[in-house]
Amino acid sequence: MRSLLSLPLFLTSALHASALPKQPKPEPTPLEKGPLPLVIWHGLGDDYGNNGLKHIANLAQQVIPGTYVHLIHIGDSTSADREATFLGNVTTQLEEVCAQLASEQILSTAPAVNALGFSQGGQFLRGYIERCNNPPVRNLVTLGSQHNGISSFQACSSTGDWLCKGAEALLRLGRWSAFVQSRLVPAQYYRDPEEIDQYLAYSNFLADINNEREVKNKTYKENLSKLNKFAMYMFEQDLTMVPKESAHFAEVNATSGVVTPLKNRTIYEEDWIGLKQLDGQGKLDFKTLPGEHMRFSDEDLQKVFEEYFGPVELGDGFVAEDVRGGSQHVLSG
Ligand SMILES: *[C@@H]1O[C@H](CO)[C@@H](O)[C@H](O)[C@H]1NC(C)=O
Ligand SMILES: *[C@@H]1O[C@H](CO)[C@@H](O)[C@H](O)[C@H]1NC(C)=O
Ligand SMILES: *[C@@H]1O[C@H](CO)[C@@H](O)[C@H](O)[C@H]1NC(C)=O
Ligand SMILES: *[C@@H]1O[C@H](CO)[C@@H](O)[C@H](O)[C@H]1NC(C)=O
Ligand SMILES: *[C@@H]1O[C@H](CO)[C@@H](O)[C@H](O)[C@H]1NC(C)=O
Repeated sequence: MRSLLSLPLFLTSALHASALPKQPKPEPTPLEKGPLPLVIWHGLGDDYGNNGLKHIANLAQQVIPGTYVHLIHIGDSTSADREATFLGNVTTQLEEVCAQLASEQILSTAPAVNALGFSQGGQFLRGYIERCNNPPVRNLVTLGSQHNGISSFQACSSTGDWLCKGAEALLRLGRWSAFVQSRLVPAQYYRDPEEIDQYLAYSNFLADINNEREVKNKTYKENLSKLNKFAMYMFEQDLTMVPKESAHFAEVNATSGVVTPLKNRTIYEEDWIGLKQLDGQGKLDFKTLPGEHMRFSDEDLQKVFEEYFGPVELGDGFVAEDVRGGSQHVLSG
């Protein structure tokens, strides 16, 4: 079995990280004319200096000319950013990202942004929307994200590096201990249906943003249901994340193999976070890509960009007030 902890490492290893990306600094685009900025949150083991991410940012700009791309990062170096994918308190990390997006010159002056999350970056972006959403997200696309958590940790591969091995070693201290829940990133979206009581009691991140506890946070639902589109991509041959159906917010019984789709789950039926509302309005898309976890082609991504991140057009029905409040302003002339 491949290692979960080393999971999106393939992106790094396949494409070889190198120098820091030079973030393009175009003039702020008047919204009436251009596409919305795009923020990207990468996955476990990756960092914002990775050539693969730069390539994806360039591709977005080729497919949707004029797109301003911001690669979310934690810390100011690629090594700190990569370390933070394994280690840290996700709540604290989210606060840092909220501050980063709210203070970035172009993003903070845009009426809305689009968001693309790779693997764990997908559920973290959802957390951003639920907890902060300033600037507000218009379309959220997640690829192979663990929206309903993971139910098994796997060993780092034999080639796993010290960071992966160190993170793995932390697990021996107990997945539900406060020590691990405040430090090991994947533990904060660990969710085994057989350990639901411990999960509800101790999960530092996922149980909260999924509003699974008795007291629900209404803001989470309000914010998430303001999305114009929420598209969840699952990799059909995903052997890396367990269960792969978590990418579609489904629950899987590991013993019986029974998959309970989102629409049959209480989180949907009682609409704890606004998914049912979005679905009722045709704004929730369940998509698949063939292949293993995070294996996609430029053509796959191009289709995603065209479908979700294209320029906002007149008649699209998108009004800035929908997401940001304040005076009504149709985004395109
Ligand atoms: C709900 O979430 C918001 C944003 O994180 C937070 O400010 C607020 O205190 C939370 N409310 C409750 C009842 O937990
Ligand atoms: C993670 O950080 C938040 C915000 O500082 C804090 O409230 C929470 O207790 C921390 N989680 C753990 C498990 O220590
Ligand atoms: C989202 O939640 C935050 C935090 O509670 C709130 O301040 C903000 O206005 C909400 N944003 C939207 C777009 O709903
Ligand atoms: C999973 O399925 C097994 C076998 O059918 C059953 O005994 C168990 O209670 C199920 N687990 C959950 C959490 O529903
Ligand atoms: C989901 O719910 C529908 C309608 O209640 C039901 O027909 C279907 O069998 C359920 N599917 C699963 C996999 O539980």
